[in-house]
Order: sequence, then structure tokens, then C-alpha cells
Amino acid sequence: MIMPDPKQPENIEELLRFYAEAGHDEALSEEPVNRFEEPARKPRQKAERAPVAPASAPQAQAVPQRAPAKAAVPDEQQAMRARELASEAKTIEELHAALASFDGCNLKTTAKNLVFADGNPAARIMLVGEAPGRDEDLQGLPFVGRSGQLLDRILAAIALDRTSAYISNVIPWRPPGNRDPSPLETEICRPFIERHIELVDPAVLVTLGNPSTKLLLQTQTGIMRMRGKWAEHVTAGEKKIATMPTLHPAYLLRNPAHKKLAWRDFLEVKMRLDAAATSAE
Ligand code: URA
Repeated sequence: MIMPDPKQPENIEELLRFYAEAGHDEALSEEPVNRFEEPARKPRQKAERAPVAPASAPQAQAVPQRAPAKAAVPDEQQAMRARELASEAKTIEELHAALASFDGCNLKTTAKNLVFADGNPAARIMLVGEAPGRDEDLQGLPFVGRSGQLLDRILAAIALDRTSAYISNVIPWRPPGNRDPSPLETEICRPFIERHIELVDPAVLVTLGNPSTKLLLQTQTGIMRMRGKWAEHVTAGEKKIATMPTLHPAYLLRNPAHKKLAWRDFLEVKMRLDAAATSAE
């Protein structure tokens, strides 16, 4: 793609379209910020002179050394730190604070807000989507855009709302331009959502779409074959949580003919919740 010349006023519209297609779909501030810039190095106190090698010594090959970038780049160490932090959290509030202070995922550098959860953490049902989009990033709440509105209508159809359901995502920061999170980014965020589910301890978990189903049910099978059948999410403490995989609301917006499949899945969920409520009486 050739970048339009920004100095030509007639190219402005074309330039904005170019940015939008590249994933830059909103202006967050007046000035551009390079979030991956390396921190300014302190000036050296006094240059030390390297010992002069004897003329006959073999010359070492100069290997350029780059200082590690300050911006967090996902790596195995960050995944380990995420696992430690998540397992140390004893309450949902502690987990929220741990995630807010965690700098090990580079998605945080481009996101505007942490999107932790919405709804009632004491609810018997927890729903987990993939990652926040633009609206969720701006509001810091999951499922508040178009797919969130559809999710609210689906919940209302089985007499639930955000006071009786709890909603979160596998990834708590918006991937830039809504790109798919990388496997390493997902691996880094995974301990937090797993601990989140463990702390909420819902009677029923609903995974929305392929990525959360694959991750939380440890399967490679696609959502079309998984949906509608009860499965189990196993927590770190080995507790088995009844899980219903279903289609993602964003997919349903694109494929409205499949809403009837999601409807069947949510009727199953309702029956399970009703049965659990009756046996608890
Ligand atoms: N899609 C998701 O998976 N999660 C959101 O919060 C919004 C859209």
C-alpha cells in the first residue's frame, strides 16, 4: 500500500482511510506518542578507555548490542510473572489490582483502558469473550459495543442481565486495530482469566466464540463442533466447572441465520441454572 502524501489537502480523506485500514481508527491525543521508544540513556560519567589490544591479537568481531526495550514485549518470563501474580490474588479485587499493575503484556501499551469485567461477581453464570474492541477500550468495560448490545438481548431472553451475570474476556487489553492476539500474548493473559474464573466460581461458565472456547476447554476443536454441548473447564485447584461453548455475538451479527443455534445453547444454560436453583431450595 502506498501512503498518500499528507501535504496535499485533497489527500486527507484518503490518508485517514489508509490509517483506518492499518488499524489506527481513532485519535487518542493531539500529539503522536512512540510507546516503544527506548528510555533516554544517562550520559556516561567518564568514558573509560578500553585496553588497547596488542597488534598481533586477533580482532574480535564487533557484535552490536541493543539495550532491552523498556516497552514490555511478551516472553516466557512475563508469562511466568503473570502466573505468579494471578495465583497470589486471593480476591477478585486483588486480581484486578494485580492485572492493573502488570506491565508484562505489550497490549497494555496501546490500550486506553484495562477491561477487567462487568456485572455481578456473585452471579451463578460467567461469560468469557475474546478481547475488548474499540468501545470496550474507551469505556473500560467488556461487551458494550454492538456485540455487547446483542449479548444483553440474549441474556434478557433468558431473564438475565448484568446484575445477575458476570462478563469478562480472555484478553483484558484491546489489541491494536482489533487484530488477533498473538499466542504469546494469550499465554501471558491466560493465568489472569483462569484465576478470575476460579475466584468467581460460577455454577455455569459460557465461552463465547472460538478463542475462549479453545483456551478454557483446552481443545483444538472448532466452535461449530463444540457449541451446544456441555463441557468442563478445570481450574488450577482441579474444580470442574460446567461450561457451555457458544457462538460469539460478533459472529451472530455477521451471520444472523445462526442466531437460532445460539438460542438453543442459551436455553440449555437456562435449564441448567433453573435446575441448580431448584435443587438448592
Ligand atoms: N468482543 C469480545 O470478545 N469482547 C468484548 O468485550 C467485546 C467484543
